[in-house]
Amino acid sequence: MSKSTISIFGLGHVGLTFAVCLAHRGFQIIGYDIDEEKLQCIMSGKAPFYEANLDELLAAVIRMKRIQLTNNPQDAVSNSSITFVTVDTPIKPNGSVDLSSLAKALQAIGQGLRRKNNWHLVVIRSTVPPGTCLKVIKVLEEYSGKRAGADFGLCFNPEFLREGNAIEDIMNPDRIVIGEYDSMSGEALEEFYKQFHGEKLPLIIRTSLTNAEIIKYANNAFLAMKISFINMIANLCEKLPGADITEVAKGIGLDRRIGLSFLNAGVGWGGSCFLKDLKALIYVAKENGLDLPLVEATISINDEQPLKLIELARKLLGTLENKRIAVLGLAFKPGTDDMRNAPSIKIINKLLDEKARVVVYDPRALHNARKIFGDKIEYAVSSIQCIQGADCALIVTEWPEFKELKPEHFIKNMRTPCVIDGRRIYDPKEFEGKIKFAAIGLNQLKHE
Ligand code: UGA
Repeated sequence: MSKSTISIFGLGHVGLTFAVCLAHRGFQIIGYDIDEEKLQCIMSGKAPFYEANLDELLAAVIRMKRIQLTNNPQDAVSNSSITFVTVDTPIKPNGSVDLSSLAKALQAIGQGLRRKNNWHLVVIRSTVPPGTCLKVIKVLEEYSGKRAGADFGLCFNPEFLREGNAIEDIMNPDRIVIGEYDSMSGEALEEFYKQFHGEKLPLIIRTSLTNAEIIKYANNAFLAMKISFINMIANLCEKLPGADITEVAKGIGLDRRIGLSFLNAGVGWGGSCFLKDLKALIYVAKENGLDLPLVEATISINDEQPLKLIELARKLLGTLENKRIAVLGLAFKPGTDDMRNAPSIKIINKLLDEKARVVVYDPRALHNARKIFGDKIEYAVSSIQCIQGADCALIVTEWPEFKELKPEHFIKNMRTPCVIDGRRIYDPKEFEGKIKFAAIGLNQLKHE
């Protein structure tokens, strides 16, 4: 059976990786974005952001002519059978979601639908506050002059991809959630996913539009809560002689009702999604007369967590003034160059407040760090160069190459060998007795 043509509105992290994965599995893609520069960059075979393996896959699907880009949104709709909407939905300072990109996309899609004679499926994949899709139906009806159900269908289909792992997460998701306006819409999207996944079809959950919208927010809130919970316990571990959060997390996580993942203690969660979605969830609840204290605590624990690393540094070094501090890792997590809400930003700002001399290294994110810190800090081109002559090294992002560093590397290169592991990447036993060492969630008995 030949695969259908799919249009994708919004070629950011979610949209472009999704487009490339669909094209890779044989779909014809028409990509649309309002940003011409972005379209040109993509057409040249390069993603406008870093995502593992994306450039290779993008170049391949362009060669195979499976992906076509347009700046004409109506054409994108009329020449395809399904339109996925993956535009950005940032939050405003008060926590409400800015739906202006979505509104623009819907207007254009509505106008495209007006020209069509056959049924078309619109799928919202941008994260939106619960209740939004019910309003989307009316907007589409207004701009298209057609009727939902009879002339077009609507689904909300949240994405659960992680930056740095996006391709794998799209190709092999744990499950697919389909919120549907009517069963015809749900069936059409289920059929599309059957074609996409073939024999490896994941479990599909079909539910209402509103449930699917809540699932997306609640999913991110729960994941962030797991991390804040383990960080809270990590902070307690630091106070109790002989305690180590790594062991504690393993002991908890092996309970199948809890699970091991997202129990890595550290300097806190960052990225473009968690904070935005948790704030939006709190806002939606407030609009409905409800507080969400657990979600609020999840954020406030995380606000403080990066500074725990500075407390540990002060314990080991005394004052930080004029000390040369090497920050290893800037991206909010490995596998990306993204520094949005990265704990590294708070850590570096605090170090600068304390008048420390800061030198940083990250395998991918140096260009973003330069935009934020300019010449207030030094930039190294390798982890070894970063730690050279330093008084203290802080592990802020768990890039695999930092795990390769041994106590000997720190001893050989640093002025005063001292490591603070903010991501629990090292085995404390390897460092014990060799150099000054501290870590989030660790209270080593022998150092008492
Ligand atoms: C997150 C969700 O994991 C995705 O399912 C979701 O689709 C996405 O948000 C989104 O809404 O778009 P992402 O922000 O890319 O994905 O990154 P995560 O892998 O979830 O990591 C988030 C932060 O938590 C990172 O700073 C990471 O270092 C931190 N983290 C993660 C921990 O501190 N400990 C852990 O055990 C796990």
